Amino acid sequence: MSSINQIYLDNAATTYPKPEEVYKAVDLTLRSIGVAPGRGGHARSMEAARVVFRTRELLADLLGIGDSSRIIFTHSATEAINLAIKGAIKPGDHVVTTTMEHNSMARPLHNAASSGAEITWVQADADGYVTRAQIEAALRPETKMVAMTHCSNVTGSVNPVEEIGPLLRSRGILFLVDGAQSCGCYPIDISTMCIDLFAAPGHKGLYGPPGTGFLYVAPGIDLHPLIHGGTGSGSSELNQPQTLPERHESGTMNTPAIAGLLAGVEFVAQRGIDSIHAYEMDLLERLEKGICGIQGVTVYNAASKKPKCAVTSLTMEKKDSATIGFLLEHEYGISVRVGLHCAPLAHKTIGTYPEGTVRISPALFNTASDIDRLIFALGAISSMHT
Ligand SMILES: Cc1ncc(COP(=O)(O)O)c(C=O)c1O
Repeated sequence: MSSINQIYLDNAATTYPKPEEVYKAVDLTLRSIGVAPGRGGHARSMEAARVVFRTRELLADLLGIGDSSRIIFTHSATEAINLAIKGAIKPGDHVVTTTMEHNSMARPLHNAASSGAEITWVQADADGYVTRAQIEAALRPETKMVAMTHCSNVTGSVNPVEEIGPLLRSRGILFLVDGAQSCGCYPIDISTMCIDLFAAPGHKGLYGPPGTGFLYVAPGIDLHPLIHGGTGSGSSELNQPQTLPERHESGTMNTPAIAGLLAGVEFVAQRGIDSIHAYEMDLLERLEKGICGIQGVTVYNAASKKPKCAVTSLTMEKKDSATIGFLLEHEYGISVRVGLHCAPLAHKTIGTYPEGTVRISPALFNTASDIDRLIFALGAISSMHT
């Protein structure tokens, strides 16, 4: 296999590399357990079930979840969001969302609208933030759900879910939060934030393998399953089981990937989310300081003092984002993501549609010297004649 020696600054897509323990856990589980969890009384199946159980328990501890059986494993945050929306929203329901959503949220909501739901899109400001007051103003007597991202994958803006959750709980409105960019790298307590449905990937801030994700479903909420099938329980019944998590976990699970996720969550828990956030914010600050002096560069959400995660976007006068991404990759060995980042509405909100931006997203395995190399490269590109 060829080894690619690039500085990777696209951790908002998926974190890379993973901690060594994650690679080992996937390999070990596939070799030494490698069977379906909960599908037999034999030792391997029981051990596989224990791995899956421990992952749920550790996630519950990390995120302030009381009952780990209400964590449903999915293949991605996208699948988790789809389960939440398709499982809860019916024609005639009203849903409030924001203009900063990733297509993982925006498309299922648009699809719900085409089946008779009504969606209100709350306009975020030019840095990507919405306020509790804006969300409150959009609520109606028939509002069923507020569905929104915690952190934008374009500007890194972190929305005040801790203020919005209690308001919605007091009104009996479901609160669906997309934690794709915050889970693992920003402090989250699902119980005190009053989040009813929390969707997250396992492969970003939790450092698990691609193909992992989960949805937390608060007590008292029954979602219609996205898929029906074998669960290893209640097998004589044609009806899908009512109990969680089996109700939403039909089919053989990817136990090696979940074992990798377990190792990733252990890694995050050991480092501590506060210290991960502080480390990543130092990298972001270094980056923002370093590029603010470069001729013709605009950095989005750089001036705001509101909460952020380590995701930022920039544009450069007279240079399109695709060219900058190409030069960074081929001349300077730095991988970033350019374009619309599956979030066209967010780019409309910050004024960068349809060209998009250059997105930079450092994570735990990046260093100050990676950031300095990027700053140097951006400076050099800005002074190139086109
Ligand atoms: C804000 C946001 N939501 C959802 C997703 C989708 O995550 P996944 O790739 O796990 O489906 C992403 C991925 O980039 C994201 O940034």
